[in-house]
Amino acid sequence: TNTRLISPSILSADFGNLQRDIEMLNQSEADWIHVDIMDGQFVPNISFGFPVAEVAKKHATKPLDVHLMIVEPDRYLKRFADAGASGLTVQLEACPNLHRTVQVIKESGCRAGVAINPHSPVSLLEDIITELDLVLVMSVNPGFGGQKFIENTYKKVADARNLIEKRNSKALIEIDGGVDMNNAGKLFSAGANVLVAGSSVFAASSPSQMISSLKHA
Ligand code: DX5
Ligand code: ZN
Repeated sequence: TNTRLISPSILSADFGNLQRDIEMLNQSEADWIHVDIMDGQFVPNISFGFPVAEVAKKHATKPLDVHLMIVEPDRYLKRFADAGASGLTVQLEACPNLHRTVQVIKESGCRAGVAINPHSPVSLLEDIITELDLVLVMSVNPGFGGQKFIENTYKKVADARNLIEKRNSKALIEIDGGVDMNNAGKLFSAGANVLVAGSSVFAASSPSQMISSLKHA
């Protein structure tokens, strides 16, 4: 599809001014607001949990795109749905019963997404792709903002696009990690639909202008 969305990650926001930063996103061309949940187990970092997600929900006028980088996400799907998530994305590598997890996400009323780490091939999604609303291709190893974009991601976007077309899936392709003006246009051309951007947006002198630049790259 020609869908081109930007989902700025509040991981790079100023948490002392979170309301201000979310209001900036409300006024910008951002489509979704990306919420990165890290548990110190699935990834070697801890970000934030329910209280911050609830603040985001309270102030945001845009859908919350919640990315769970946590082990045993099944334990918390309902709580994140109740906290106001519009989409819930789990990591393939954290889900031994992924089909069931995806059904539970859908039953909660959220858009169901599955993220794959840089080492996981797109082919692992062959038997779940028709159930998904979103495939998140990680373009860095998850855990930290501000890392370098992995170039093999372009090949994975092409693989994901082929799989989606072959199986007639409606899934959107989202890319997360190291997205900036050097790769945004190429990612959209390769078939990506949603770009997550953390540091490139919040480190810019005008974050909302950077969101527009990425969106029209
Ligand atoms: C990576 C997170 C990303 C991160 C992106 O572990 O899932 O969403 O915040 O940040 P940047 O855009 O700085 O790579
Ligand atoms: Zn993320």
